[in-house]
Amino acid sequence: MRSLVLLLIPCVIAILLHFWFETNGSSRPPNSSDQQVSQSKVMVGVLSARQHYDQRQAIRQTWGGYVQVQPLYRHRLWVKFIIGKHGCPIPDEDREDPYSCSLLNVTEPGDEEEEMEVVRFSGPSDLAPGEVSSMSLDFKVLHPVVITRLGVFPNGTHMDIQANITVRLLQLEQPEAVITAYFSSASPGTRVNGVWYKEVEQFILPKGFEGSLVWECGSSTCLTTISSSLVQLNTGGGVLRFFSIDDGTLPHRSALGFPGVAGGFMFKIYDVDLLLEVLRRRGERFQSHGLKLQEEDLALKQESLQYGDMVFLDVVDTYRNVPSKLLQFYKWVVSNAGFDLLLKTDDDCYIDIDQLLMKIDHKDLKRHNFWWGNFRQSWAVDRIGKWQELEYASPAYPAFACGSGYVASRDLVQWLASNAEKLKAYQGEDVSMGIWMAAVGPQKYQDSRWLCEKECYQDMLSSPQLSPKELRYLWDSKRACGDPCGCPWGHS
Ligand SMILES: *[C@@H]1O[C@H](CO)[C@@H](O)[C@H](O)[C@H]1NC(C)=O
Ligand SMILES: *[C@@H]1O[C@H](CO)[C@@H](O)[C@H](O)[C@H]1NC(C)=O
Ligand SMILES: *[C@@H]1O[C@H](CO)[C@@H](O)[C@H](O)[C@H]1NC(C)=O
Ligand SMILES: *[C@@H]1O[C@H](CO)[C@@H](O)[C@H](O)[C@H]1NC(C)=O
Repeated sequence: MRSLVLLLIPCVIAILLHFWFETNGSSRPPNSSDQQVSQSKVMVGVLSARQHYDQRQAIRQTWGGYVQVQPLYRHRLWVKFIIGKHGCPIPDEDREDPYSCSLLNVTEPGDEEEEMEVVRFSGPSDLAPGEVSSMSLDFKVLHPVVITRLGVFPNGTHMDIQANITVRLLQLEQPEAVITAYFSSASPGTRVNGVWYKEVEQFILPKGFEGSLVWECGSSTCLTTISSSLVQLNTGGGVLRFFSIDDGTLPHRSALGFPGVAGGFMFKIYDVDLLLEVLRRRGERFQSHGLKLQEEDLALKQESLQYGDMVFLDVVDTYRNVPSKLLQFYKWVVSNAGFDLLLKTDDDCYIDIDQLLMKIDHKDLKRHNFWWGNFRQSWAVDRIGKWQELEYASPAYPAFACGSGYVASRDLVQWLASNAEKLKAYQGEDVSMGIWMAAVGPQKYQDSRWLCEKECYQDMLSSPQLSPKELRYLWDSKRACGDPCGCPWGHS
């Protein structure tokens, strides 16, 4: 028994010494073998929206603040919040969608009951055989509308219908049709301005609805189409937006047919009074929103003076602009900071700074052409919603690192900075980074401890999607017992 205790004593001393070295930077052996590597300087860029004051405070009070007070880290690790200099001057109600800063540009509607036709043609000579068995027209609803009729074009010479044609209104990414209408020679519907229509159950499409109208029939010779150069689609004064039907457009979703128009539909603006009211009060809203922005500018200025950890970049701070914001930051950081590695994360993420640095210092991490993260492979491209991809035509993205964080070597950041003006912004900044990096081919270091989802593991390097309160909990637990997920004694 006694000898066991004696045996254990050196261990205890070693552990104590280890702790002492860990916490007391100046006593670290000066010529330790890893000194060369341990000097690598790390810049931490935290993407943050202008109004996320609470999120920034949570980081300042947890891992971000820790970096500032740790003597070991103070001179080799910097945390900067990445902020857009400009707020969007358009009030929320007046934007096309919550992710961008484009004005919902709608003209005052007329009569509530007015049915509008999406497409009109001047005569049979505008029409031509379709050459495909399925065609689709993609559109987005910017103010609610009611669909009243679906229609098909007649056969060019006889102005009647000789085939069996199905017209379906589909919500993007949903297999079931919202509305369907069938046309045949026996049941062609009624003709209005040359187009055959069938009334459908009136269906309200809400703001933000994205869908396709799809015309289908049994062979490649039975649809009639209109030349895209001859047709001007009726947007109802701006309540609808149609996606390109120009000749030579690539089909987005191969299953749903070629982009084109083989008929039309009729619609009414839903709740005209509401739209009129929205338009009438627009000036008022712009004014109060302008004042709110001024206050926000002032508060941000003060916050920046107080903490000195914010970088303001010349972009409008919206979700769709985040990729450009990131590129601007890379330009800034390359010309304003000395660093070897750059860690990019978001303002809702927990970062285990100690583990991160330990890994950088003690493992042989490369410092050139090096990208460390948790990579997603063959991720399907989204066509709707917040993550809607408007630019990338392939069905799957190249590998990209999950948003909770990644580390890139300086040369990669430098490459991005010097090509910033030429690089195209895709849907999200993580996806964009993947596409940009695919051109460079960095060495990817796959590490699943950069979590992609809000989960908790003791050895995780990062975890995303946390509220300020959750972030503090993880950090406090980590400090109290070494486990961010909670302490055995139930740390609060
Ligand atoms: C540490 O290394 C430097 C340069 O390699 C050398 O001049 C110095 O004497 C070394 N110090 C100790 C304590 O070994
Ligand atoms: C709104 O639309 C009208 C007509 O389509 C156009 O003349 C005007 O420039 C647009 N305004 C904005 C701010 O986009
Ligand atoms: C259309 O459908 C009907 C009933 O299913 C069928 O009898 C007719 O032959 C079809 N017409 C064509 C042109 O395919
Ligand atoms: C249109 O009518 C012509 C002549 O009857 C016929 O040959 C052709 O197949 C029809 N086309 C369609 C799209 O129904």
